[in-house]
Amino acid sequence: MNAPTTPAHTPALASRLPNVGTTIFTVMSALATETGAVNLGQGFPDFNCDPALVDAVSTAMQAGLNQYPPMPGVPVLREAISKKIEALYGRHYDAGSEITVTAGATQAIITCILSTVHPGDEVIVLEPCYDSYVPNIELAGGVVVRVPLTPGTFRPDFDKIAAAITSKTRAIIVNTPHNPSATVWKREDMLQLQDLLAPTNVLLISDEVYEHMVFDGQPHESAARYPGLAARAFIVSSFGKTYHVTGWKVGFVAAPAALSAEFRKVHQFNVFTVNTPVQHALAAYMANPRPYLDLPAFYEHKRDLFRAGLANTRFKLLPSEGSYFQCVDISELAVPERSLPEGDFCQWLTREIGVAAIPLSAFYGNGFDQHVVRFCFAKKDETLVSALERLARL
Ligand SMILES: Cc1ncc(COP(=O)(O)O)c(C=O)c1O
Repeated sequence: MNAPTTPAHTPALASRLPNVGTTIFTVMSALATETGAVNLGQGFPDFNCDPALVDAVSTAMQAGLNQYPPMPGVPVLREAISKKIEALYGRHYDAGSEITVTAGATQAIITCILSTVHPGDEVIVLEPCYDSYVPNIELAGGVVVRVPLTPGTFRPDFDKIAAAITSKTRAIIVNTPHNPSATVWKREDMLQLQDLLAPTNVLLISDEVYEHMVFDGQPHESAARYPGLAARAFIVSSFGKTYHVTGWKVGFVAAPAALSAEFRKVHQFNVFTVNTPVQHALAAYMANPRPYLDLPAFYEHKRDLFRAGLANTRFKLLPSEGSYFQCVDISELAVPERSLPEGDFCQWLTREIGVAAIPLSAFYGNGFDQHVVRFCFAKKDETLVSALERLARL
């Protein structure tokens, strides 16, 4: 072999996502580990799932269900999803052509975007929003159009949304129950959205990963309930949230056949399939609706426990109508750190008080700071009690 004429080097890259760094969730979780803080930052349970679900995966593996499943997901799981949607929201999705099993909601959302957004198309996001939406749109070459939810209440402002729709708008992403604000869209909101989109060709990406965490007897207003929305919607959900298995990364998309067909074109070259034994286990486990029907009460108890403890502090509690988040306003705390930017406040809270939280500014493109931080209460009661003991100083 001839000696190389130039030394080996790694070619420099022009980043596809120049504005993306380490996410705040990773930063705060690392800081919580380093400082021994109670981690109420990142949204995941610190308790295990139902052992019956783990047994069901093991049973599927031992039965030899370990090879590639069909590209859109195993038929029994798609049937189970279809039945559940019909029972809960009154719309039939054909398991063969309208339901696709995905590697979590994150893969579902990027696949919705890659399969529908052409370079230059506009996509509306309602801020604050889940952190994957914006980079997903950018990767597709789309133009991100940010519309704020109303500061303070986080309700949708339909005048602002209407003003953002142009002839180039391809899609709007809606998330209810909402991360991070824990608000829930009402029937009137869905009807207004339906009316607004009716004369347009705008698609709806409806992120419903917290569909089974709506409190105080309120219904979950799935886009599936509204014919005018369902006809243009990719409905996205996540088994990780519903069954306390965020690390399994399995979710699904329900969409009309024409939309699902385009979705699957990208899906098949993106992940192709999602792991087989977990799909079979989920299908078997879904035969019993109790786990998801009982989930609101399960999390409502945790929400109430956490809120009752925080009521003894100077944190101002915002409503928590759904999801497993509780936002608080820090501006009345009796410590000077209340005036810090939210991100610095969260660092201080983690280091000095021993509880990790997430600044709401992390969910805005421009870092909008409203002195609000988010706690996650998907934790064992003793974890919440321990966090509350620490927060009691405030
Ligand atoms: C609003 C929202 N959408 C999507 C996801 C991603 O879900 P998955 O873990 O199934 O990818 C999350 C997870 O935190 C979320 O909060």
